[in-house]
Amino acid sequence: MGYGIISASFLLVSAVALTVQVFLYSPISPDILELPSAVSSPPLYTPNNYLQAAIKLGEGILNKPEDVCVDEKGILYTATRDGWIKRLLTNGTWENWKKIHDRHTLLGLTVTRAGDVIVCDTEEGLIKVSEDGEVTALATHMNGANIRFADDVVEAADGSLYFSVASTKFGLHDWPLDLLEAKPHGQLLKYDPSTKETSLVLDGLGFANGVTISSDQEFLVVCETWKSRCLKYWLKEEMRGKVDIFIDNLPGMPDNIKLAPDGSFWIAILQVYE
Ligand SMILES: *[C@@H]1O[C@H](CO)[C@@H](O)[C@H](O)[C@H]1NC(C)=O
Repeated sequence: MGYGIISASFLLVSAVALTVQVFLYSPISPDILELPSAVSSPPLYTPNNYLQAAIKLGEGILNKPEDVCVDEKGILYTATRDGWIKRLLTNGTWENWKKIHDRHTLLGLTVTRAGDVIVCDTEEGLIKVSEDGEVTALATHMNGANIRFADDVVEAADGSLYFSVASTKFGLHDWPLDLLEAKPHGQLLKYDPSTKETSLVLDGLGFANGVTISSDQEFLVVCETWKSRCLKYWLKEEMRGKVDIFIDNLPGMPDNIKLAPDGSFWIAILQVYE
């Protein structure tokens, strides 16, 4: 009985101490995460099973591939959690094409008009791999600070590379903290190959994720995962720099975005709200 009381008060003291500790040492200072109104209203989109019919490429071969791109010859590239760029040849064989780094996760990638593959390295920034396999670091710093957590990249018609940084506060492995904090630490950056300079395009994005450019090159779309929306950043002369909402109230959190051959967009939803 006596022991019971002692251990109960010990537990209470420990609980208080733990609570104080959590408050003192918490790595986050959270805001409220606002989910879209669509969550509480009847769904806009009718559920279907179309994805059940998808063909799985590279199952058992790829370690958490994030993104895909296809070059002029029809070779499909993807980059993995364990630092590889792997490619699917047109005869159906997967090739371990290029290892960028043992311990760096690679995310979004794109093939440029010149035939280079540009990949987002979550520790280093933007990396270029030429057709013959030569690796060059392109954008590693902005205003003297290391670029971390580069997420997705797209090439504009003028050769500029636009890319997202998911969070400037938390790294890849701490992404759940970025969600818990629910503050917009994401950015859209631009790398200009003629000056080799990297500049800030948009700041304060809610986990900047997929980026793509419309087929007419009039605007860029960047997805804000935590905000369940994608923004339109105007590129065409008379609208340049203006930002509009491209789509909001998505039925879940958007991840990558791809341009379809007919000019429409595919958006991958990583978590569908129920
Ligand atoms: C596909 O092409 C590659 C490269 O030429 C070759 O190494 C591989 O054996 C081929 N695979 C098949 C199934 O033909």
